[in-house]
Amino acid sequence: MNKMTIEVLRIGQRIVRDDRVTTHVALVSRAFGAKKIYMNEINPEIKDTLTRVNKSWGNGFELEYIENWRTLLKSKKKEGAKIVHLTMYGQNINDVQKKISKEKQILIVVGAEKVPRDVYENADYNVAVGNQPHSEISALAIVLDRIQGGKQFDAKFDNARLQIIPSEKGKQVISNK
Ligand SMILES: C[S@@+](CC[C@H](N)C(=O)[O-])C[C@H]1O[C@@H](n2cnc3c(N)ncnc32)[C@H](O)[C@@H]1O
Repeated sequence: MNKMTIEVLRIGQRIVRDDRVTTHVALVSRAFGAKKIYMNEINPEIKDTLTRVNKSWGNGFELEYIENWRTLLKSKKKEGAKIVHLTMYGQNINDVQKKISKEKQILIVVGAEKVPRDVYENADYNVAVGNQPHSEISALAIVLDRIQGGKQFDAKFDNARLQIIPSEKGKQVISNK
């Protein structure tokens, strides 16, 4: 498994309108190998969903509410993390995925509404998954997959109550009491 520490920062969700999208951003982060997601606006239900998913399917993924994302960006940069901002205006993922996959620690920033200019300026990588507008969920999933080369799907989640046995047909689930 690759040794890169991956975290995600979700900036500025529009509460209620973006709740489902934000929940999916968090679920994709968890399922695709990130360790933590930071959010500056949060509906408590999103935290409850994550807690439930961690309980059933294994823990190790965290959600943290933060007051000020600019302070987080500064402190992460100080720690040595590279900031990877997902934007359709950025560099083609095909051209930068190799370089990003060699980083030790990254913080991936995804927006909801218009992202302020200083994020573009302070990012180490502004990365586009195509230069067309689409969705932060799909952009995040593709970037996480590209930089880990699919290895994230070999990872085991600790203390899972439920565990799927992959099968050709039907559903096989083990319940660990
Ligand atoms: C629905 S978009 C809103 C973008 C907003 N109109 C802007 O100009 O920043 C929400 C987020 O999805 C992500 N996104 C959308 N299309 C993308 C693309 N082609 N490549 C990378 N990220 C993308 C970006 O993180 C963006 O902030």
